Amino acid sequence: MTQSNPDSFVPAMAEIAREAGALLMEYFQQHVKVEYKGDADLVTVADRTSEILIRDRIKARWPAHDILGEEQGLVDTGSDYRWFVDPLDGTTNFAHGFPVFCVSLGLQHKDRLVAGVVYDPTRDELFAAERGSGAYLNQQRVQVSKIANLSECLVATGFPSHKRHKNPNIHFYHQITLRTHGVRRAGSAALDLCCVASGRFDGFWEFNLNPWDTAAGVLIVEEAGGKVTDFKDGAFQLNSRETLASNGLVHPALLHEFAEIFAGRGLEPLPEIQEYRKERV
Ligand code: IPD
Ligand code: CA
Ligand code: CA
Repeated sequence: MTQSNPDSFVPAMAEIAREAGALLMEYFQQHVKVEYKGDADLVTVADRTSEILIRDRIKARWPAHDILGEEQGLVDTGSDYRWFVDPLDGTTNFAHGFPVFCVSLGLQHKDRLVAGVVYDPTRDELFAAERGSGAYLNQQRVQVSKIANLSECLVATGFPSHKRHKNPNIHFYHQITLRTHGVRRAGSAALDLCCVASGRFDGFWEFNLNPWDTAAGVLIVEEAGGKVTDFKDGAFQLNSRETLASNGLVHPALLHEFAEIFAGRGLEPLPEIQEYRKERV
């Protein structure tokens, strides 16, 4: 298991993520003031302070590593190692007092994800993976679900706060809702990915995520036996604007639905309000 590997990054990453998570919980209880980065793009002192803490801890242990964090951007030292830091994934939830948020730390070596940790301080759940060593939730091995029919799936998606009007995802949300047990939109992409890894969700997709949202969660899904691609089954890239994760079994069905939606086929028109009322009785 990952923790017994002397070269493992996970134990130190877990320590950092837990420390940052404890800090987030202190701020969460204080109901901190919200600021706007954009139209509906929120940020708080908790996002900033958590990133400062995480950067300090990474620099203390691995001073030569590159770090890309959501709030402070990239520090490029030319290292083969690069960290992707989301100091608070789920800021909108956090700001409204809805307890679904986490800390996400992903580590890449020469363009390959090698380790990832996602910590949910509200449930004390730590998801972790090291390349080739499986995925874990609080030290217990986790695996993706075994559901093979899309119609029996619970899936998830998200809507980025940036350029909301240019995002076609509402069509996808509509169509996939009609073809599954439901689509959850919980507000933390990193936790959504971990829910796929642990079999709580059977699939997840989102447009326009950033590398700090996905780096850790993608590796955790893959190490749990799942699949992550773009919307045309191409290899997932950290700078990709499309993320589709699943248990692997329902991947072809999701890709098929996406192709239909992109082609403008299979769209179910909203019923007239009179018709809808009639059907309800
Ligand atoms: C957001 C969350 C959300 C997703 C957005 C992300 P943030 O990250 O992951 O679930 O839908 O696209 O930007 O801003 O809370 O770190
Ligand atoms: Ca995020
Ligand atoms: Ca964030």
